Amino acid sequence: MSEMTRDAILALDRDDPLTGFRDRFDIPEGLIYLDGNSLGCMPKAAPDRVADVVKREWGEDLIRSWNTNDWINGPRRVGAKIAALIGAASDEVIVADSTSINVFKALTACLQLNPKRKTLLSERGNFPTDIYMMQGLSALSGGDIITRLVEPDEVLEALDYDTAALLLTQVNYKTGEMRDMRGVTVAAHSKGVPVIWDLSHSAGAVPVDLNAANADFAVGCGYKYLNGGPGAPAFIFAAKRHQDAVFPALSGWLGHAAPFDFDDTYTPAPGIDRFLCGTPGVLGIAALEVGVDLMGEADMAELRTKSSALGDLFLTLMSERCADYDFTPACPIDATQRGSQVSFHHENGYAIMQAIIARGVIGDFRAPDILRFGFAPLYNSFEDVWNAVDVIQNVMETDAWTADEFQARRAVT
Ligand SMILES: Cc1ncc(COP(=O)(O)O)c(C=O)c1O
Repeated sequence: MSEMTRDAILALDRDDPLTGFRDRFDIPEGLIYLDGNSLGCMPKAAPDRVADVVKREWGEDLIRSWNTNDWINGPRRVGAKIAALIGAASDEVIVADSTSINVFKALTACLQLNPKRKTLLSERGNFPTDIYMMQGLSALSGGDIITRLVEPDEVLEALDYDTAALLLTQVNYKTGEMRDMRGVTVAAHSKGVPVIWDLSHSAGAVPVDLNAANADFAVGCGYKYLNGGPGAPAFIFAAKRHQDAVFPALSGWLGHAAPFDFDDTYTPAPGIDRFLCGTPGVLGIAALEVGVDLMGEADMAELRTKSSALGDLFLTLMSERCADYDFTPACPIDATQRGSQVSFHHENGYAIMQAIIARGVIGDFRAPDILRFGFAPLYNSFEDVWNAVDVIQNVMETDAWTADEFQARRAVT
């Protein structure tokens, strides 16, 4: 794709089969938003839907809405829609809580499947919450359960007969590197180890087929590529074969077989329902459902083709126009090995990202030195990529990033 011209880029947008989706999102005028891997853009239908839930379902129907507006089934209903995006059966996914909490549920489920095994395994550089939840469980067990972190390329050889769970993020949040879900799962199963896949950077971003990979458990965020809104509820997948074998560690009343019997004894609900804990956030689920419905209209193969092409174009333009400025790709160059993002190391990454953001191109920074740009093929265009690299080139040529205002770290990067 070398030596692309602006006209050639605009032609790519004209030929894009997904082009109609962009107009279904509210994208502020003049903004180039390459951070859908952190917080997806707002679907235009979301405000009306949430307002209806607030004004009519909550304001007028009040408590009756649990039945009349089907609030009680929101976690199952939206879970089933997410299931269709990640190769799961409709009764294998439920929307609940945050990804962190769902990681805890999946880890404790694995410990129950193999009670004699005591090691929780993951890789260094996994998203911190995954690691922290493991460490919290180790502390809770008084050291009986061990958290073991190895280098990414040592994971398979670290699997052994004491490993109770392998927890991996399919698409690494910093490097965008994508794991071979099926290959890793097969290797783990050969040692009797169930795998928990964190799909936060996969769901709605790359084709996922959990059941084709014979996956055990998975979790993921609703607010990234699913465009569910800030702090949207997360989801958890439990393979059918494991569901009834797990006595939930987070045995909240809504995971009970008959919550409205108000029995003193916890009896887990059959199937995926036992992965519920407490009362679902109805407003959050309403917004998430809009995003998931929109994603459900898209063809995942077209999405993947476009996402790969956007990433390839970004890398090509950066190497053509910013070769003099010490950016080193932190992501795989081969699109088949990459999720829907590109990233670069740069020692002044934080300040450069702030300067880029000040000029209307939103990506993000991940310590210690990574600039990250995510592509949401439903609303990002090839022109976005062209314009973004223009801005980066300009920020570097003019040393705009050296201004004092871009040096101080803010609370959220
Ligand atoms: C891989 C991964 N897992 C989990 C999370 C966040 O989990 P939570 O929604 O519980 O904050 C993120 C957030 O960026 C993430 O990238």
